[in-house]
Amino acid sequence: MKVLIIGSGGREHALAWKIRKSPHVTWVGCAPGNGGTTAVAENVQLDTSDPDAVVKYVVDNEIGLTVIGPEAPLADGIVDAFPNDGQHFVFGPGAGAAKLEASKRWAKEVMASAGVPTARWRGFTDADEAIQYLKRRNEPVVVKASGLAAGKGVYVCNSAEAAVEAVKAIMVDRTYGDSGAEIIIEERLVGTEASLIAVCDGTDHLVLVPSRDHKRVGEGDTGPNTGGMGAIAPNPALSAETVKLCSETIIAPILRELKADGTPYKGVLYAGIMLTEDGPKVLEYNVRFGDPETQVVLPLLKVDLVDLMLLAVGEKLGEFMQQFNLHSEDWQSVTETKHCATVVLASQGYPGSYEKGKPISGLPKEQEDLVVFHAGTKAGEGGVVTSGGRVLNVTALGDTLEDALSKAYAAADQIQFDGKMLRRDIGK
Ligand code: AMP
Ligand code: GLY
Repeated sequence: MKVLIIGSGGREHALAWKIRKSPHVTWVGCAPGNGGTTAVAENVQLDTSDPDAVVKYVVDNEIGLTVIGPEAPLADGIVDAFPNDGQHFVFGPGAGAAKLEASKRWAKEVMASAGVPTARWRGFTDADEAIQYLKRRNEPVVVKASGLAAGKGVYVCNSAEAAVEAVKAIMVDRTYGDSGAEIIIEERLVGTEASLIAVCDGTDHLVLVPSRDHKRVGEGDTGPNTGGMGAIAPNPALSAETVKLCSETIIAPILRELKADGTPYKGVLYAGIMLTEDGPKVLEYNVRFGDPETQVVLPLLKVDLVDLMLLAVGEKLGEFMQQFNLHSEDWQSVTETKHCATVVLASQGYPGSYEKGKPISGLPKEQEDLVVFHAGTKAGEGGVVTSGGRVLNVTALGDTLEDALSKAYAAADQIQFDGKMLRRDIGK
C-alpha cells in the first residue's frame, strides 16, 4: 500500500518514519515534507490547502492511505473531499468533528453537553464586553482566541491588566486574524499537564502512551507559549488509574456526543489535560497527533501504526480490541517498556520572528535508540539549513527517563546552527 502524509513538521517526519516500518507499505510520500523526511519518504509538491488537488493526486497515484498531520486541512474539510470508494482511505476527522479544535468555543459547548470536566469559561465576540468582564472579575484567567492560531493564541495571565492586553492583542490588533473574532476567557487551572492521544474509530478508542509536552519557550515554564519545546513519554504524573479516569471522562463522552450528533469522530483525538486537585480537566482538544508528543509516542509504539489507522478508518478498532481483550486505557499492551524523550532545537527568537537559512552541522546518524526528527529544515546547497521556528526534535529511547534525556541532550549538544536555542529542563 502507498501512504501519503500531509504536513511538514516534526510530527510528520515521525509519522513517515513509523509508517515506513510497516510491512504493508511500499511507498511513503510527504507533502510537502521537510529536509529530513526525504530519508524515509518522497517529498511531494502539492497544494495541501486545496482538498480537490490532494484527492486528485491520491486517486491518480493510487494512494491507499492518506494521513493528515496538521489541523488546518482537517478544519478545511480535506477528509470530506475523499471518495468513499474503499480504495483511498484517509485518516483524520471530517470538518464537522474537527471543529473541536477549530473553535474553542464550540469545543467548550460540546464538553458541557458531554459532561467533560474543564475550566469554567465565558465566550465573547465584543472586546469592550470582555474587558468589562475582566475588570469585574478578580481572579487569574486565561484568554484564548477561539479559532486556529498555530498553538499561539493562548495567554495565561497573572493580572487583570495582562488579560486586558491579551484581549486587545487578539480582538483589536487581530494578531491571529479572524481566529480572534471570538475569544474565550477561562478560569486558570493549577496542576501538572499531561497529553493523552487516543486512536478513535467513531465509537471506540484506544489510548496511546501518555506523554508530557513543555509549552513555554523558557526554562522553568517561563515566557510565551510555543507549539512545544520538548516532550517525554510515558508521563510519570499519570498513573494507570488516572489514565483510566481520563479515558472514561475525557475521551469516551466526546465520542458518544459526536456520534449522537451525526459527526462520528475517526482519527486521533488529543486531549491536553491539567491534573488538578479536583481531578483531570481538559485544557483543549486537538483533532490530530500532538507535535512534539508524536515524536515520543510513536518510537514507543510496538504495533503497526498502519494497522491501527486502517482499523480506525474501517470502524473496526472496537472489534479488534474485543478480540484481544484490550480495554480503551490499556496503552501498555501496545507500548515498549521503555522511555522516550525529545528535545526541540529552535531558532533564536521563536515563537516570535527569527532568521532562516542557517546551515546545520553535527547531525548524528540514526541509531536504535536515537533519531532526529526534522521540523523547520530544508535541503540547501551545501546541506540541510533551518527554515522554521522549531528546527529539529532530538529524540532518544532509554530504560529510564534519565537515560533517554541524557542521550537526547548529548546528541542535541553535538548539533550546531547559528541561533540554536533549547530548553535544558525537558522532563524535569
Ligand atoms: P491550549 O492551546 O488551550 O492547550 O493552551 C496552551 C497552554 O496554555 C496549555 O498547555 C497550558 O499550559 C496553558 N493553559 C491553557 N488553558 C489553561 C487554563 N485554563 N489554566 C491554566 N493554563 C492553561
Ligand atoms: N504540543 C501541542 C500540540 O500539538 O498542540
